[in-house]
Amino acid sequence: MEKIPLIKPHITDAVKQRVNDVLDSGYLTEGPVTREFENKFAEYINAKHAIAFTSCTTGLEVALRALNIGEGDEVIVPDYTYPATASVMPIVGATAVIVDVDPDSMLINYDKIEEAITDKTKAILPVSIFGNPLDYDRLNQIKEKYNLKIIEDAACSIGAEYKGVKVGTQADIAVFSLHPRKFITTGEGGMLTTEDDRLAEWINSYKHFGMDMSGASREGIQFSIIGTNYKLSNILSAVGLEQMNIIDELLSRRRELACNYAGLLGEFDSVQLPKIVEGGLHSYQSYCVFVENRDEIMQKMRDENIEVQIGTYSLHMHKAFNSGGKVRLHGGFDGSKKAFKECLTLPLYHDLTIEQQEYIVNKLSKYLK
Ligand SMILES: Cc1ncc(COP(=O)(O)O)c(C=O)c1O
Repeated sequence: MEKIPLIKPHITDAVKQRVNDVLDSGYLTEGPVTREFENKFAEYINAKHAIAFTSCTTGLEVALRALNIGEGDEVIVPDYTYPATASVMPIVGATAVIVDVDPDSMLINYDKIEEAITDKTKAILPVSIFGNPLDYDRLNQIKEKYNLKIIEDAACSIGAEYKGVKVGTQADIAVFSLHPRKFITTGEGGMLTTEDDRLAEWINSYKHFGMDMSGASREGIQFSIIGTNYKLSNILSAVGLEQMNIIDELLSRRRELACNYAGLLGEFDSVQLPKIVEGGLHSYQSYCVFVENRDEIMQKMRDENIEVQIGTYSLHMHKAFNSGGKVRLHGGFDGSKKAFKECLTLPLYHDLTIEQQEYIVNKLSKYLK
């Protein structure tokens, strides 16, 4: 059987045509196609503002700056995540306070957040990992009790929902990734959403060199703040825009395939599925399961020409996060260790077939303990 990859971006002829149109237009930098992409994204999430970025990481950094978080401030993040989630704090001069995750959902442990709060804590930066939505009832209780801000690392969560509301509007600021591991991709890119007009204005200006974006003519432009360049080109925006045009189809296919995996895997006691909060709707950026002998299975599946992968990283195991500096490790990390050791990501992409899923699960079943 031909190799089954972990992911395959869904690049249609419409995407290629739109990119060609941009190339033919000669308007290659950020511009009208980026605006169209942002508007489409905002409309889909039901967010007031969507602002395109060069990546989720640059968007998270600017989110911290917009909320005035820097030197002397602390932000609480989960241990089980991609390093970018916690790296952005030291980048702006703040301290990342790393806490454990729940072993069943792999989401930040809400009790640990409360334990780690000090008078320097300014924000929580939870991650809706792999498209698994966060418990905003719980997060908002903590936010109100301690007067904190919430920035959601929604890198993986386009289309995920909590109690009927799409991820992207519950936090003060949320940031999505458009990396090819995510199912809407621009190659590299990110999208920040917020409901706050003042924050949106500042963020938009900051990523455009600090330019006053109120629409003055070119001669009349004012640079009101010191800013930088985190713009997303029209070329990349065209790729994203055409995928946003079919997002409902992309997402429903993902959910259909995820549901099929759940059915096929249901008969094996040694395979556990991650827990989803009550009222939550997963978007399955990654299809993850827990298996005890993960490393052995990973090797065997790769030998079978099926590309599987770990979930993500446990930050406390890495030098960047366990050797002091602007990082504080709070407490034990049993939940994160379990996720790092047992989480296995199975292939999931738009064109994966039901037959291929049956083949994958059949192979997997041979190696389960
Ligand atoms: C949870 C999480 N946060 C942040 C990032 C970084 O996203 P980007 O590559 O768009 O900067 C990733 C990327 O994989 C991620 O999975």
